[in-house]
Amino acid sequence: MNNMKKYLVIGNPIDHSLSPKLHNYWIKRNNLNAIFEKKLIEEKDLKGLCNDVRKGRIEGFNVTVPFKEKIIKYLDSCTETANAVKAVNTVYRKLKDGEHIVEGDNTDVSGFQRSCPLANNSKRGASALIIGAGGASKAVILGLSNLNVKRFAIINRTREKAENLMSQIIKPESYRAHFVYEWCKDEENMTKPDIVVNCTSLGLKEKDRIPLDFSKYKKRFFTKKIIFYDLIYNPEETNFLYNAKKIGQKAINGKMMFLYQAQKSFTIWHGVQPEINQEVKDLLDD
Ligand code: ATR
Repeated sequence: MNNMKKYLVIGNPIDHSLSPKLHNYWIKRNNLNAIFEKKLIEEKDLKGLCNDVRKGRIEGFNVTVPFKEKIIKYLDSCTETANAVKAVNTVYRKLKDGEHIVEGDNTDVSGFQRSCPLANNSKRGASALIIGAGGASKAVILGLSNLNVKRFAIINRTREKAENLMSQIIKPESYRAHFVYEWCKDEENMTKPDIVVNCTSLGLKEKDRIPLDFSKYKKRFFTKKIIFYDLIYNPEETNFLYNAKKIGQKAINGKMMFLYQAQKSFTIWHGVQPEINQEVKDLLDD
């Protein structure tokens, strides 16, 4: 077909990505002349891909692990959100002062935010425990702070990374309190949060276990349920979520976040907001 617009998701590994399936479904539904493909790349390919967008050889792409931060130096501009988290997952071309430039946005932040059922409007603000300190954690922290989370604790295998993340993203003046906990050592001291988010890749493999015991929360507090949120959606129920359910807490996987971030990227590229309905949700389970 002539003038078929081309979109990609780039990463390494990339096989697991369900983005082509979802975007091609929406492309068809909206009668667009476009195609979305996955591409396994190396870091050295990033510059050329940005140039392809600038020159109109491709229209745009999604970026996934481990390039969300590395892509930034090849872009002409970043949105405020992408700048805030220093990570980009959506790249597109736009006109600025009569010239084509390549811009990056981060739709993970609003994707997380829209999917998160945390409803806390108290003056004090809600509290969150973040497991992990990579790119995904940054998007989640920004999303949560937009949802009135004022107290953050981070726990990460490599403590130094958690400390860096804390100082990079959490401005002391805008939050009430923050802590960095020691991996596997501090469980006794952790105060009960409103939400615990797994932002690590631990859980992708069936044998993966997050070595933290949250059952102590249950024994000490019987009031409100804690939300246990795992960014992973495949498998549908990680061990982390299984254990949360076992102690009677609310468990949520990353499926809706994935759908919302994709919906926003699609809207940026095509100017049409695709529908998230049961058929779309079922598509990801096939
Ligand atoms: P992303 O951009 O998707 O967040 P990342 O930046 O590579 O990816 O971060 C991965 C996160 O998962 C990190 O917090 C990492 O912990 P370290 O900082 O100690 O590396 C965490 N992680 C990955 N594998 C892990 C494992 N086997 N045990 C504990 N944490 C793990």
